[in-house]
Amino acid sequence: MSHMVDLVIFGGTGDLSTRKLLPALFQLQRHQLTDRLHRIIATGRSAMDTDTFRSLAHENLHKFLPEGTWDENVWDTFRERLFYCKVDSGIPADYQSLSKLLDAGEAPARLYYLATLPSIYGGICEQLHDAGLANEHSRVVLEKPLGHDLESCRNINEQVARVFEEEATFRIDHYLGKETVQNLIAVRFGNPLFSPQWRNTFIDNVQITVAEDIGVEGRGGYYAKTGALRDMVQNHVLQVLSIVAMEPPASLRPTDIRDEKMKVLRALVPMTPANVKDNTVRGRYAAGAVNGQAVTGFLEEAEYKDADTTETFVALRATINNWRWAGVPFYLRTGKRLSRRYSEIVIEYKQLPFSLFANDPNELTNKLVIRLQPEESISLHTLNKKPGLTRGLRLQPVELNLTDESQNKGDRYDAYERLLLDAINGDQTLFMRRDEVETAWRWTDSIIESWEENGTPIKNYNSGTMGPNAATALMAVDGRNWYE
Ligand code: BG6
Repeated sequence: MSHMVDLVIFGGTGDLSTRKLLPALFQLQRHQLTDRLHRIIATGRSAMDTDTFRSLAHENLHKFLPEGTWDENVWDTFRERLFYCKVDSGIPADYQSLSKLLDAGEAPARLYYLATLPSIYGGICEQLHDAGLANEHSRVVLEKPLGHDLESCRNINEQVARVFEEEATFRIDHYLGKETVQNLIAVRFGNPLFSPQWRNTFIDNVQITVAEDIGVEGRGGYYAKTGALRDMVQNHVLQVLSIVAMEPPASLRPTDIRDEKMKVLRALVPMTPANVKDNTVRGRYAAGAVNGQAVTGFLEEAEYKDADTTETFVALRATINNWRWAGVPFYLRTGKRLSRRYSEIVIEYKQLPFSLFANDPNELTNKLVIRLQPEESISLHTLNKKPGLTRGLRLQPVELNLTDESQNKGDRYDAYERLLLDAINGDQTLFMRRDEVETAWRWTDSIIESWEENGTPIKNYNSGTMGPNAATALMAVDGRNWYE
């Protein structure tokens, strides 16, 4: 589709739009990647004229653009693309004003970005339909959280599906926009060196860590009802896991890739009240110190109903029951107020069947360590001879750095730039299909229901640590350790 696109952002003056979407669009313009984009129309409930919105955007871009990327010339053209239209999501007349504004432009295609409360996604789609604003050239982008369990997710999906076809529905998971996640596909399927060994015959275990050093940062109301499992595992962690574990797709087309990811999600073994205790750890941060700063605990900060039943950390032992992965545990953990911010995938290979060497190779295993953030890197941990004249061959670990260092210099792009560009161009590869999101919910629901049935306690951990001791024990009982 080579149509010019008008992008309409619902929640256009909200947090996501201000911090992420407008800066990402500005960067795309700076990189001259916006040839398909016509106008950016922000909508919101407050009345404001376009000039006021432009001044607001100017001020906010200065605040939220990465340092050194402001460019007056880019702004001169960018500001001309920005428009504002007051739309109260429940008021039909407001959609008529939007319609007038859209008709006045030259772009036949429309991309509606819903960055509001997900509970009103269905209503917005219906209004767009009634106002004649959803046609065969329209697409919709949905931000997370898509519901808080399978049932609520299905409801949202169903309401949206009454207006937009699945091919026109783009569900965001910003982790899929991260460079290293895409690089994982290249590394796995571009290297004959890795692909034959990517299975249970060679791999001992897989670890995925998404650690944050921040707390709930003023989002306590949302977070208290959500918790780490719903906020991070249901989407980001499972999306990363499905790319690590998927079979080679028939092609790089969106359907082929998403079909393979889907098979992994379906093969995840649901948890039960009988096994959830052994396979999961729930934690909550207490007071402590992060990066040298004293901080308070979650319960002191989040004085919301239900906060005491909310976990801010979770560690899991997940099982994928299929030919490739049977017998390989996937250890997953994510949490807030941990010692540092980093996201990493570790593929740990099996130990040698027999050791010829003077030191114990059991502690020294091959690992492929894939770092998503703060920096992007891939390194292969191998073993070679410890140099010197000592008697006996001794092994030492050596890291092969597979990182393209240009990735960590200068112009790293934000995940939202990649995803906005793809949505504008109509490429669904890095967006979640309906069945993926729902299957992921089915799995996390099995955990939540088992926790509820068992009354699984939440263990405190001091802020600035890597979670409760039980998370270490989760691996230790298997004779393994988290790679840190
Ligand atoms: C969001 C979660 O989806 O991802 C937040 O709602 C979390 O709680 C954020 O902080 C983490 O994203 P990133 O890109 O900073 O790792």
